[in-house]
Amino acid sequence: MLSNIWYFGLPSRDLSRGKLQHRQICGEPVVFGRAPDGEVFALRDLCPHRGAPLSEGGFRNGDLECCYHGWTFDIGGRCTSIPALVADDPVDLSKITVPAFPVCEAQGLIWIWMGDGDGVETPLPVIPAVGERAPQIVHDVEFPVNIDHAVVGLIDPAHTPHVHESWWWRRPSERRDKEKRFAPTPLGFDMVSHRASSNSKIYRLLGGAPEVQIAFALPGIRIEHIRAGKNFYCGMTACTPIDDKRTQTTHLMWWSMRWLTLLRPVAMPFARSFLGQDRTVFEKQAKGLNFDPDLRLTGQPDQQAKWYFRIKNEWQRAADAGSPFENPLTEATLRWRS
Ligand code: FES
Ligand SMILES: [Fe+2]
Repeated sequence: MLSNIWYFGLPSRDLSRGKLQHRQICGEPVVFGRAPDGEVFALRDLCPHRGAPLSEGGFRNGDLECCYHGWTFDIGGRCTSIPALVADDPVDLSKITVPAFPVCEAQGLIWIWMGDGDGVETPLPVIPAVGERAPQIVHDVEFPVNIDHAVVGLIDPAHTPHVHESWWWRRPSERRDKEKRFAPTPLGFDMVSHRASSNSKIYRLLGGAPEVQIAFALPGIRIEHIRAGKNFYCGMTACTPIDDKRTQTTHLMWWSMRWLTLLRPVAMPFARSFLGQDRTVFEKQAKGLNFDPDLRLTGQPDQQAKWYFRIKNEWQRAADAGSPFENPLTEATLRWRS
């Protein structure tokens, strides 16, 4: 699991004022909270007294109160009171702290920095075209594989006709030769803007001649941007490790078409079925991965997976050396059948 990087935490709408949410990220228990004044924060979700999750408590006078003995902490994790102490007890509250994680809220999304420092020098993923609008659809799935397998599955063009076979998407018999151009970006690589493949029925619904751009960035963020005339659709899939065997994958969608908003109840099952197909194949793959097999990334269909491992290793190497990350990738064209 990569450190010194922003991970997707949760959508802003899951964290109203005065609310706490537990998550496990990179093996760490995390409590996300939004203070009554609206500020978002994240702390280690363990009370330093006797380990009760702080997410099981609540807010008291703007501070977080543990559910067990009522110790309170400010949103930076500093202990502010221990109700059981008499007034002249010499315990020094300033020595009692809960580790805090830097967080950032933008475009209706909350990101968390897992690593040293505050992450200000590392750019957050940006969803094009949507401004500060919150996503119209958010769908979460837990994949029973580590983040590497989840990410590789996400950027793998070869599984699409196989795993996502359906009448509304495409059939394996409709495989065609594909040729796509790729260019490096600050934290990953873009599949350069191109005309949508004519064998994807759903693209035709957008009207016009859709242009598609797909961006991939560390630690495991894929953003698809489709433009057709004045309309756009953006989909972001974010992989966040729960631990070294499970990955939380969140799919978020934004669009400009009013008719699609009316169809939202219909669109939701499509999102569910799409990620459900991935989860089903990951469940099968996990059975094989229990035997820790060697993996064979083969040919151009697996080239994006090889790039992922290359930039991930380089990111970690640069972070460990305290030097800036330089993307080792160069422009390339890949060909495959899907
Ligand atoms: S465990 Fe939290 S106050 Fe005791
Ligand atoms: Fe998939």
